Amino acid sequence: MDRAPFRIAVLASGTGSNLQAIIDAIAGGHLPAQLAGVFSDRPAAPALERARVAGVPAVAVRPRDFANRLEFDEHLFSRVDSVHPDLIVCAGYMRLVSELAVTARPGRMINIHPSLLPAFKGLHTHRQALDAGVAEHGASVHFVSPELDGGPVIAQARVLVLPGDDEATLAARVLRREHPLLLATLQLLAHRRLLLDGNRVLLDGQPLAHPLQLTDDNATLQPPDPINPPAY
Ligand code: GRF
Repeated sequence: MDRAPFRIAVLASGTGSNLQAIIDAIAGGHLPAQLAGVFSDRPAAPALERARVAGVPAVAVRPRDFANRLEFDEHLFSRVDSVHPDLIVCAGYMRLVSELAVTARPGRMINIHPSLLPAFKGLHTHRQALDAGVAEHGASVHFVSPELDGGPVIAQARVLVLPGDDEATLAARVLRREHPLLLATLQLLAHRRLLLDGNRVLLDGQPLAHPLQLTDDNATLQPPDPINPPAY
């Protein structure tokens, strides 16, 4: 019996290039999923326009219409729940999700963050990486936990920091890897091969000792080299 399509809801606050990558992958038949809705805390977010153009329900919920963060989250997630997503993807979503919203949806919410977590949580990650003088930087997809950028990491994509890099050049190089990283991770989730088990990520029932790594050709996710796993 065919399973019902894997339904994805996306939360986005800004440009929506990660959302566009999902839209394009689904339209191209490369991702066995359907976009159930796109939700933003910013009515003017270009991500909402991308959803509308793609014929996907686009919903803006303004924080200032609510007395506090909890009431905002409660309303936002009631709207998200109304489209019955199997997975909620925070892709360029710039608000902290309340503990209540996270704990009510264990293993059903992921975030893509532009750093090699646990390094450089929070904002301005490329500036943080340049200031720290690291040789490698990148992006991480993780299950959302109540701690900002703190949930179990599923997969990472790495880039070199090059001489002469500034925030813009580094951000662009990372963003080019974010899109295939997110799509490869969504493939595994849509095929129901990835699960959150407490604080561990299970791939085909086996706990991941380290985050999966996106290959240099952006094609697949592989377990890291067991001999010399990534520092983080
Ligand atoms: C990306 O670096 C994403 O990781 C971060 O916001 C940036 C813009 O994402 N959260 P998008 O273009 O809005 O998807």
